[in-house]
Amino acid sequence: MNTSATPTSIAAEGPNADQIDYWNGLAGERWARYQDRLDTMLAPFADAVLRLAAIEPGARVMDIGCGCGATTFEAAAKTDPSGRALGVDISGPMVARAKARAAALGSTAEFMLADAASHDFGAASFDLLISRFGIMFFADPAAAFAHMRQALAPSGRVAFVCWRPMKENGWVSVPLFAALPHLPPQEPPVPGAPGPFALADRDRFSGILKDAGYTGIEIEPFDASLSLGRGADPLAEALEQTLDIGPLSRALVDQPDNIRTRVTEAVREALVKHETNGEIALDGAVWLVSARA
Ligand SMILES: C[S@@+](CC[C@H](N)C(=O)[O-])C[C@H]1O[C@@H](n2cnc3c(N)ncnc32)[C@H](O)[C@@H]1O
Repeated sequence: MNTSATPTSIAAEGPNADQIDYWNGLAGERWARYQDRLDTMLAPFADAVLRLAAIEPGARVMDIGCGCGATTFEAAAKTDPSGRALGVDISGPMVARAKARAAALGSTAEFMLADAASHDFGAASFDLLISRFGIMFFADPAAAFAHMRQALAPSGRVAFVCWRPMKENGWVSVPLFAALPHLPPQEPPVPGAPGPFALADRDRFSGILKDAGYTGIEIEPFDASLSLGRGADPLAEALEQTLDIGPLSRALVDQPDNIRTRVTEAVREALVKHETNGEIALDGAVWLVSARA
């Protein structure tokens, strides 16, 4: 498959059109801009999912929702020289960043702009599907996971990491609950709807994978703290990132300046309580998921 010839933009159509729009707008641009910082913050989860994946030289690995490519580069280094690592994502800005990094790093990782839930990757083309937080955005997860299973060889495996419920994830709940009294009433989240916490219910996720035909499903908790800010001004860094990326940034879209100012103050007060030794760190709680094709 010649991925260098793949399109550089993707039409917002099909069941995942909303997410294609979202990840090709401000969200994708910000993730690409903050790539370095986010990769440092999310490194414990990259390490955890790569340990679980146990990639051997020669393996053919697909990284679902690869973003700017952190885990794809790690996978490529492990599969070299005879295997391959392909990162797949719907975000033009993030795939562009991943391709530029591959060239700069001299990595063999390949990247493709495509909807993993529907693109035809060819039957049995991969030995392993991996993902760090790229699998929670499918409108129809059962259909998406069944579709992706077709790309796995009969002996294939998956290794994924995704968030546990928001209440266990202080990096989201602390700033969001501080902001909520200052925001117009928010629609209550629909359980299981596409978004960071779509697969937070372990039994539901296990059922989705089972219905999609996977076997040997194991879903285990893993915890690590997320460093939101450090260095010269940890609070400013944590504040910027919290307001620009993730669920709070979604809630702030289209809010007028007076609300943004009140939210910023409330979140600043909440975050400063979590500063220790020049770092603002909050709880991160994930599922480590493995299964066979
Ligand atoms: C939270 S980001 C994680 C990015 C990256 N894996 C990381 O850990 O830095 C989620 C990613 O999933 C991608 N994504 C969402 N739905 C997708 C789909 N249907 N097919 C491929 N990628 C998708 C988004 O574009 C985004 O890059």
